[in-house]
Amino acid sequence: MADRRTALVTAPFRGEGLDTLHRLVDVVYDPWIEQHPLRIYSSEQLAARIEEEGATVLLVETDSVKGPVLEQPLVAIGSARGDPNNVDVAAATAKGIPVLRAPGRNADAVAELTVALLLAVNRGVVRADLDVREGEAYRDGTIPYQRFRAWQLAGRTVGIVGLGAVGRAAKWRFEGLGMTVIAYDPYADDATHSLDDLLAEADVVSMHAAVTPETQGLMGAAQFARMKDDAVYVNTARAGLHDTEALTAALQAGTLGGAGLDHFDGEHLATDHPLASMPNVVLTPHIGGATYDTEANHSKLLADGLEQLLAGGKPDNLVNPEVLS
Ligand SMILES: NC(=O)c1ccc[n+]([C@@H]2O[C@H](COP(=O)([O-])OP(=O)(O)OC[C@H]3O[C@@H](n4cnc5c(N)ncnc54)[C@H](O)[C@@H]3O)[C@@H](O)[C@H]2O)c1
Repeated sequence: MADRRTALVTAPFRGEGLDTLHRLVDVVYDPWIEQHPLRIYSSEQLAARIEEEGATVLLVETDSVKGPVLEQPLVAIGSARGDPNNVDVAAATAKGIPVLRAPGRNADAVAELTVALLLAVNRGVVRADLDVREGEAYRDGTIPYQRFRAWQLAGRTVGIVGLGAVGRAAKWRFEGLGMTVIAYDPYADDATHSLDDLLAEADVVSMHAAVTPETQGLMGAAQFARMKDDAVYVNTARAGLHDTEALTAALQAGTLGGAGLDHFDGEHLATDHPLASMPNVVLTPHIGGATYDTEANHSKLLADGLEQLLAGGKPDNLVNPEVLS
């Protein structure tokens, strides 16, 4: 059809959302995630690519959508993220361009990794795996049964800090493990505890808050000191929520039982950082959201939103509804 729009899609798309997209528009599909070496477009590079493809719809995940991109004749932008922080939303709004986002796309994925880290820390799974691989099951004259004793999680209490999409997805999983769940979130009506009370009561503290001026460094020396001595700290949200030095000190002092972390300041932990050699710490490099389902979820959220927009509707996941009024 002559009047079909062209969408430049640099986000990974799959499943029902990809089918919807093909029905709606001509698709130029070139996802960043398949590029080796890594390719993340600057706004200048992305603007040139949009012009080259004659695209009026843009669906991105990581590329920068600022300045020159917003000079392009776009009718819709979709950012495959809960927080579309790769898009200059204010500038898009000023240009009258609707911006869609993908809230909650990775909630189940991050919640599953949260449980994985907790189980791995609590039962020493990574250390045990290494012992087997290294032929050291009987390390230092002990049998594994002596070294790997732990409390089971069933019957213990977990405190969730931040009862949003991921926090709620983690909640029922913890309950499924037989844990009692308490929660702190000043913006959730069903949160049960103040932060101080939660820290004192929980055997596991699991961080799921957004980083805001209020939550930046929320967990510092005083907060780690309030936690039980054998408690486990899990953070699959952002390192910005804690003071890494205070966390390290609490683990070194043995006033914290262990930690599972999926994020580090600057996306990097130096190999000689003390955390990297602690046996009671399990570290993953920001892989919480990395599932194919996350991609299918954001594909559906963005494609459905685009379909509503093109039909003159106002989708729920529109970041700047004021452009339609
Ligand atoms: N590891 C990963 O790959 C990965 C992937 C997705 C999200 N995340 C992170 O996980 C966290 C949760 O993401 P989400 O999608 O559930 O976000 P969300 O916006 O749905 O939830 C955030 C929650 O934080 C709460 N909050 C705000 N201020 C608070 C405060 N002062 N104290 C306690 N809670 C507060 C909000 O009320 C909200 O319920 C974010 O930090 C996000 O960046 C990590």
